[in-house]
Amino acid sequence: MNQIEVNSYEQLSEQAAKIVESQLQKKKNSVLGLATGSTPVGMYKQLIEKYEKGDISFADVTSFNLDEYAALERTHPQSYFQFMKKHLFDQVDMKPGQIHIPNGTAESLVQECSRYEEDLAVHGPIDLQVLGLGINGHIGFNEPGTSFQSRTHVVDLAESTREANARFFERKEDVPSQAVTMGIESIMKSRKIILLAYGEMKRTAIDRLFYGEVSEEFPASILKEHPDVTVIYG
Ligand code: GLP
Repeated sequence: MNQIEVNSYEQLSEQAAKIVESQLQKKKNSVLGLATGSTPVGMYKQLIEKYEKGDISFADVTSFNLDEYAALERTHPQSYFQFMKKHLFDQVDMKPGQIHIPNGTAESLVQECSRYEEDLAVHGPIDLQVLGLGINGHIGFNEPGTSFQSRTHVVDLAESTREANARFFERKEDVPSQAVTMGIESIMKSRKIILLAYGEMKRTAIDRLFYGEVSEEFPASILKEHPDVTVIYG
């Protein structure tokens, strides 16, 4: 794993955006794996600036998001669909046909997971996957204990994850208890991965990632077995 330590959130966002920029300059029709959460927001902001300056275009990009809450309408402000529209899609040259986000309100979530995997198989592999890091080591919504062989699946969210994400909802009870997430194996198929983690709260998880063993009890640890991962942290 390559490690880039930064001194500020601004730097983290810059470094991450630079990697996405060079990916898009190398291959205009890249398949990007995108993440939500507060960590990548600064990176998206920088990418929008690069787009506005004419340095990059998303016109030929295909995107796959990692995850989506279950039972939250796509119109809900806290759905990851809305998050992505707000922080990236509506501000660059991306059209709905290029975008893939699991549908958390599909009639059958199990079928939705298979459909998502099929889409990934048709368009993939993902050229560059962006990941955040949960304080319990989750990537996407793959909570501790998830099989390293998992594909897109429905998950029960850990209590700590619901608490961590409660800040975005009016009440903790409003945080969905389930989500659809790309699996660990789906993520590991990506050609290149960048993982972003910033702040005190992520320190223990970063230490465990760097110095701990590879174990399903700490999902991010599998990244040590991927040939091209860059961790940007501070
Ligand atoms: C959520 C998302 C993850 C994200 C994580 C960290 O649970 N499903 O994809 O990486 O939280 O979020 P944050 O960046 O806000 O700390």
